[in-house]
Amino acid sequence: MFEAANQLRAERGPDAVADLSLGNPCNEPPAEFFDALAVEARERTGLRHAYMTNAGYLDVREKVAGSLAERTGIAYGADDIIMTPGAAGALNLMMRALLDPGDEIVINSPSFVEYPFYIENFGGQACVIPDKPDFIPDVDRIADACTANTRAVILNSPNNPTGRIYPERFWMDLGRALAARSAALSRPIYLIFDDPYRHVYYTDAPPPDPARYYDQVVYVTSFSKDLGLAGDRIGYLAMHPGIAFRDELKAGIIFSMRALGQVSANATLQRCAAALVDVPRDSVREFYRKRRDRVAEVIAELGLEAPPMEGAFYAFPKCPEPDDLAFCRRMLDQGLVVVPGTAFGVSGHFRMSYAVAEDVLERGLDLLRQAL
Ligand SMILES: Cc1ncc(COP(=O)(O)O)c(C=O)c1O
Repeated sequence: MFEAANQLRAERGPDAVADLSLGNPCNEPPAEFFDALAVEARERTGLRHAYMTNAGYLDVREKVAGSLAERTGIAYGADDIIMTPGAAGALNLMMRALLDPGDEIVINSPSFVEYPFYIENFGGQACVIPDKPDFIPDVDRIADACTANTRAVILNSPNNPTGRIYPERFWMDLGRALAARSAALSRPIYLIFDDPYRHVYYTDAPPPDPARYYDQVVYVTSFSKDLGLAGDRIGYLAMHPGIAFRDELKAGIIFSMRALGQVSANATLQRCAAALVDVPRDSVREFYRKRRDRVAEVIAELGLEAPPMEGAFYAFPKCPEPDDLAFCRRMLDQGLVVVPGTAFGVSGHFRMSYAVAEDVLERGLDLLRQAL
């Protein structure tokens, strides 16, 4: 879709196209990031650009663990944290550390398009469980899908592509169900909680944290989405202090950093991340909330059915015709670039990203209105 949009722009001129296809943050990083970078640029000694422990700098991991512990009430320590090149880097590390060929990872649908590829990179198979009609995952079906071959479940909330936030009740039920399955199988089913949109929510309270209800959680996140640092590739994973086979898992992840050529997260960016862990995100939420409200308004005006837009920066409306691929092709002809739900495993819907400049968003909404 992205390439098609570029071609269309070249043919018709940039003003005839609105690309709402990508989840590429359009907020600038906060002042604290540029201040931290300035410090990094000034320092000329201390071997700040040499190799370090693969898991990352101890002081950075202490900072991250402290912040997580304060937010969740769970006693994370520096040893539970591994700094990674974004959430995608962390997910690939987890897959390599966990999977033997033929092993399975349970994912829901719709979900992030890249999960199956990450799983297949290491010979694993994705076992895909459709969400309930309200786009909340189905606890019973997820638990039933966990067999002796299952190593983990990956879930993401605030969710890409639906914009839904899975409620506390869901995490409690899932935690209980996975604990029961793990006991029955005599091995842990890890829950990999992919959380890069944690701070991008529009609900009154922040999104719930599943690690409060299940101790086999590996938390994966990044500074990509909320702080506009997607291109800088910095994030981390946090193992719940109660996780089973902790030392083996950690050794596997760290070895995988080397085997995959990641080696470690970028040294400069790690130090910047330490300065950013606790920066307030209110202005980021306001930035995207404005766009979300506008999209919600137009969706309602056009009478499109869509799940509640609770977080992240996507709308996932139902297409006005059953074939989402045909619909998105038709929209593309009009100059509006959106992604068919089929890409995320659910037909009949399309995803619209509102992580774009306001004039592009208005143009996109106009094109949608005209096309419908
Ligand atoms: C659900 C989800 N997980 C992971 C990622 C990867 O993010 P990162 O830039 O942190 O690697 C994305 C990016 O779009 C995403 O939407």
